[in-house]
Amino acid sequence: MKILITDGLSPKGQKILQDHGIDFNSQHYELDELIKVIPDYEGILVRSATKVPREVIDAGKKLKLIARGGAGIDNIDHQYARSIGIPVLNTPGANSYSVTELVFAHMFALARFIPQANITMRKGEWNKKAYKGIELAGKTLGILGFGKIGQLTARFALAIGMKVVAFDVADVETDLDVEIADLETVLKTADFITLHIPKQAKPFITAKEIEMMKDGAYLINCARGGVVDEKDLLAALNSGKIAGAGIDVYAEEPTHNLELTSHSRVSVTPHIGASTVEAQDRVGIQIAEKIVATLKG
Ligand SMILES: NC(=O)c1ccc[n+]([C@@H]2O[C@H](COP(=O)([O-])OP(=O)(O)OC[C@H]3O[C@@H](n4cnc5c(N)ncnc54)[C@H](O)[C@@H]3O)[C@@H](O)[C@H]2O)c1
Repeated sequence: MKILITDGLSPKGQKILQDHGIDFNSQHYELDELIKVIPDYEGILVRSATKVPREVIDAGKKLKLIARGGAGIDNIDHQYARSIGIPVLNTPGANSYSVTELVFAHMFALARFIPQANITMRKGEWNKKAYKGIELAGKTLGILGFGKIGQLTARFALAIGMKVVAFDVADVETDLDVEIADLETVLKTADFITLHIPKQAKPFITAKEIEMMKDGAYLINCARGGVVDEKDLLAALNSGKIAGAGIDVYAEEPTHNLELTSHSRVSVTPHIGASTVEAQDRVGIQIAEKIVATLKG
């Protein structure tokens, strides 16, 4: 049995496959090539870089599984795969700590002008007076999407003295000291808003939602590109309606939206929410174990 790994697998994950006699080939292919090579494999393992649309699934005549090292499966036509009996495996929760810590990295960075100070000090400038920041303690964090990452983000926020107000489309039960509210309430009351929802068919945060936010609110998107309308966000940053944005994910990746990524009041990272040693180990072990269970179970 042989699986194709297109976006890497941690050494611990590779060892689990080897120990169970599952061969693999670790190589990235663009879509055209992927369609040509996929007929040779019983499974395909991707992260976020490889798309698995219907054409790939149809070409994979021997496919017994599609695996995603990570949580979001929006890069896979998972509904089609499941409709023809091919299971789609993923690792929900394995990277929650890494994403949550990145959310706070962006919030602290924005609150204290860290990106701007880094850029100007590298040019030899000393702009101490320009960087009068704010504390996160005492501020209200609005969380949109109160699943695994949203709830962990709430725990971190409460630990540093923030208040938390959260919205989710699903019924939420929590023992955390947070207010569960409707979308409008979250938008209107939060000083910082962070998104933790899956990819949506259309942008979830547009000029309309931004208008409802507090003047000078901060927006963090470590969820999925396209969840925030980048054009509307840029306009709000330019007008000062939004004081700062922390962005890890983009409508198009790699992004070419330099106007946004080089804006003086953003903190940007290139989709690295899950890119930590610990998360990749956890993801690698969990996905390898699921592949073994599916192929050998
Ligand atoms: N930046 C990264 O590298 C990275 C890494 C991991 C996950 N993510 C993203 O984070 C998202 C959240 O991950 P998770 O593990 O918490 O998922 P989860 O499934 O546990 O939680 C998602 C929550 O969003 C809610 N939701 C869905 N649509 C909504 C809507 N329109 N409005 C409000 N709530 C809505 C769901 O009910 C659910 O509670 C993932 O879908 C993924 O897109 C990003």
